[in-house]
Amino acid sequence: MFRTADCGSLRETDIDSNQTLVGWVDRRRDHGGIIFIDLRDRSGLVQVVLNPELSAQAYQVAEELRSEWVVQIKGTVSRRPEGSENPGMDTGMVEVIADEATVLNQSLTPPFYIAEDAGADESLRLRYRYLDLRRPPMLRNLTLRHRVVKFIRDFLDAQGFLEIETPILIKSTPEGARDFLVPSRMQPGSFYALPQSPQQLKQLLMVSGVEKYFQIARCFRDEDLRADRQLEFTQLDLEMSFVDEEDVLSLTEELYSGLIESVTPDKRLTKPFHRLTYDEAMSDYGTDKPDLRFGLKMTEVSDLANETEFRVFLSTVERGGIVKGFVVPQQAINTSSVMKELEEIAKEAGAGGLSHIRFRGVSAIQDMNDEEILYSAGLRMPSEWSQRLADQMGAHPGDLVLLMAGQEKQVNAWLSIMRNHMAQRLELADPDALAFAFITEFPLFEWNEDANRWDSSHHPFTSPADGQEGMLDGNDLGSIRSKAYDMVCNGSELASGSIRIHRRELQEKVFSILGYDAGETASRFGQILEAFEYGAPPHGGIAPGIDRLVAILTGNTSIREVIAFPKTQSGVDPLFDSPAPVSQAQLDELSLRISD
Ligand code: AMO
Repeated sequence: MFRTADCGSLRETDIDSNQTLVGWVDRRRDHGGIIFIDLRDRSGLVQVVLNPELSAQAYQVAEELRSEWVVQIKGTVSRRPEGSENPGMDTGMVEVIADEATVLNQSLTPPFYIAEDAGADESLRLRYRYLDLRRPPMLRNLTLRHRVVKFIRDFLDAQGFLEIETPILIKSTPEGARDFLVPSRMQPGSFYALPQSPQQLKQLLMVSGVEKYFQIARCFRDEDLRADRQLEFTQLDLEMSFVDEEDVLSLTEELYSGLIESVTPDKRLTKPFHRLTYDEAMSDYGTDKPDLRFGLKMTEVSDLANETEFRVFLSTVERGGIVKGFVVPQQAINTSSVMKELEEIAKEAGAGGLSHIRFRGVSAIQDMNDEEILYSAGLRMPSEWSQRLADQMGAHPGDLVLLMAGQEKQVNAWLSIMRNHMAQRLELADPDALAFAFITEFPLFEWNEDANRWDSSHHPFTSPADGQEGMLDGNDLGSIRSKAYDMVCNGSELASGSIRIHRRELQEKVFSILGYDAGETASRFGQILEAFEYGAPPHGGIAPGIDRLVAILTGNTSIREVIAFPKTQSGVDPLFDSPAPVSQAQLDELSLRISD
C-alpha cells in the first residue's frame, strides 16, 4: 500500500495514529536542526516534521528534498505544539512526525510556483499544463466541473433520458462557424467534417423513437477565439420528442436550479428564472444576453429628443435613427471630468459620443433651476422638458441620465457596453448572484448585409412560431418569430435551443429561403429530409455550454481556466505544439498536397 491516508484529510481525531502518506513537496523549511515539509496530494497539505533525534534516516532524506519531489512518509500524527497551530489550514491543528522517508521521484525546479497564484503568464502555464493543474485553484475547477457533469447525468437519468454517443467523423452540420475537415484516406479527395454540434444526429435519434436523448458532447468550430470560445468545447446536448417550448424550458430550469443548489449552494440563485422575449431584451437592455443582476433599464426617447435643438439628436431622428438611454441612480454628483471619461468609453465602443443630463438638485425636477440641471454640450432644455424626460425614463433628483443617438442596432450595442461599464464601475453586480433568464421569440431569420441574404438566427432546423408559417411565402421575412430560445446568465449566453421543424416541405422551404439550391439541399441535408418522411415526431431541445457554466460557477472570466488542456487565443496548444506539419508520407497517403 502506497498510503493509508490522504494528506489533506488528517484531523485531531487522527492524533496518535500511524500513517503512511505520499505526495509532492510543496514547501521545505530548514529550521536549523529540524526540517519541516508541507506535503501535498490532491486532497490538500499537511505539515511533516523531520527531526534527526527521532529518525536519522528520515532527516537525511529530508536534507535532499526539493520542491515537487515525490515522497512517501511514514509517521505518527501529533498535535501541533501550542502556539504553532494554523487555523487557516484544514490540517492546521496537527502535524506528522516522520519515522521514515522515501524519495519516489525527483523533480526539476518548476518554471512557476505551484501555488494559488502561479505568477506566470498563460502561455507558460499552458506549456507546462500538467504542472499548472497541480495548483489548487485548477484542481478545484476540474473537481467542480466533474460535479456539474455528474449532477447532469444523474438528473437526466432519473428523468428517463438515454445518454447516446454520436460520431465525431460526420458531414458538415451548420451552426454558423467554419468546419474542421478530416481527409479520408480510403476515399481520396473526400472529407469528413467534425460536428459543430450533434444537431442533425439528435434529431435523427428522435425519428428513431429514442424520445429523450442527451450527451456530454464535444463540438468543433473553426472560429475566432475569445475568452468564452474555444475551437473544441463541450455541450450538454439534449433533445426530446412530443414537447413544446415550455416543456424544454421547465426541464432546463429544474436541472440548472437543482444543479446550482447542489454543486454551488453558496451562490444566490434567482428563482424562477427571468423570462424575456427577444424584443423585450433588446428594448430594455440593448442585447439578447442581458446581465440581470442589476437594473439600469433602457428607454427610447426619440420623440422628446426631437423637440430639442440639439443637432445630433435631430439629424439622427431625421435619418430614421433613435435616441435611447438609461438612468444611473444617484450619480448626478459626478464631475465633468468623469463625464469626459464616460464619453471616451462610448467612443471606444464605436459611438460618436454620449450625452448626459445631471439632476443635481434635491427638489422636484420641475422646480430645479438652471444650475441644478447640468446638460452635456449642445443640449439645454427648459426644466419642464427635463421633467417629462425624467417621467418617461424613471429618473429622480440626484440621478444621472445617459443618452445616445444613432441607428437602433448600433445604439443598442453601444448602450449595452455603457450599461455594463457603469455596473462594473459602481459594483452593481453581485459576484455571488446568478441571474438566469430565458430569452424567447427570437426572429427566425436575420438579414446578412455583407452576403446580401437571409441567415437563420439560430439554425435552419428551427421551427417558425405558431401561426407564422404562412409568412414564409410573404416578403416580411424579418418579422417572422421562431420557437428558438436562449438561456443566459450574468450577461453570458449559456444555452440555445429550439422546437424543430419535423416536416419535409417546411424544412425545404426554409432551406430555399436561406439560398440553398435543390442540389445543395439534397447533398447536405438529404439524410434528415428523408428521415422526416418516415414518421418524424414533433421534437425540440437545447444545448447548454458546459465550459461557460463552469467558468461562471468558479468565478473565471475565461473558459480556458476550466478546460484541462485548452488552446491559446490563436488556436495553439503550446504543450503538444499543435497544430504541426505532418510528414510527406502522411500527406501522400491522404492524397494531399500543400500549396505554397
Ligand atoms: P449554439 O451554437 O448556440 O447551439 O451553441 C449552444 C451553446 O454552446 C456554447 N458554445 C460555445 N462554448 C465554447 N466555445 C464555443 N466556441 C462555443 N460555441 C457555442 C454556448 C452556446 O450557448 N445545436 C444547437 C443547440 C440546439 O439547437 O439544441 C447549438 O449548438 O454556451
